[in-house]
Amino acid sequence: MRRKIVAGNWKMNKTPSEAVELVNMLKPLVANDDVDVVFCVPAIDIIPAIEAAKGSNISIGAENMYYEESGAYTGEISPAMLTDVGVKYVVIGHSERREYFAETDQTVNKKVLKALEHGITPIMCCGETLEQREQSVTVDFIRQQVKIGLLGVTADQAKTIVIAYEPIWAIGTGKTATTEQAQEVCGKIRECIAEIYDQATADAIRIQYGGSVNAKTAPDLFAQPDIDGGLVGGASLKADFGAIVNYNK
Ligand code: PGA
Repeated sequence: MRRKIVAGNWKMNKTPSEAVELVNMLKPLVANDDVDVVFCVPAIDIIPAIEAAKGSNISIGAENMYYEESGAYTGEISPAMLTDVGVKYVVIGHSERREYFAETDQTVNKKVLKALEHGITPIMCCGETLEQREQSVTVDFIRQQVKIGLLGVTADQAKTIVIAYEPIWAIGTGKTATTEQAQEVCGKIRECIAEIYDQATADAIRIQYGGSVNAKTAPDLFAQPDIDGGLVGGASLKADFGAIVNYNK
């Protein structure tokens, strides 16, 4: 049985002092022994959030990192900087980074490999636009994102990573994909993993759904056979996140 993983993606929200307040507010609400709980926060919030989360079941993750070890890359954060303060997860290739910061499947692949080398679990994002969905190329497009993102990743490494399926048209729009749509694509992603590696790897890898997940939609989504939790934006900044994490209570 795969363990569920519910991650908040704070995006560019919350100052360091607000981050401490939010972690303290959510700490009691996100207690659930059945679920891995991750808050992916802005780089400057990582250290205070880790301090505030001490003694709770919350892991703190980053929203991005660079694929080089160190050097002349002004403004970037290295994997060693993240592990040094106890970061265990990093979101890689979110559609907003692809859209606004020129991330490609190739840079996503480099970051995934580098995170794994440092023992950080990548939450690798994929997802189609509305136009692609309307043109019926969703599955082809997602398969390409997943295949390129995982180039050079071994089966043993792949078993540890998290893939987040986030249809772009559902992000921040209040338009959650239907349970059927989300399950269909997550199932196709698992089939693709089985093709690249083998069934054991496909059975081990965790696949999240993301895109306007809320306390109402989470229980049905997370009950699907190929959906192992969620990547949650807007609702991760509110008390609702506690209900999403406790979708099974
Ligand atoms: P949303 O964001 O839940 O606000 O739609 C999800 C995401 O972008 O990870």
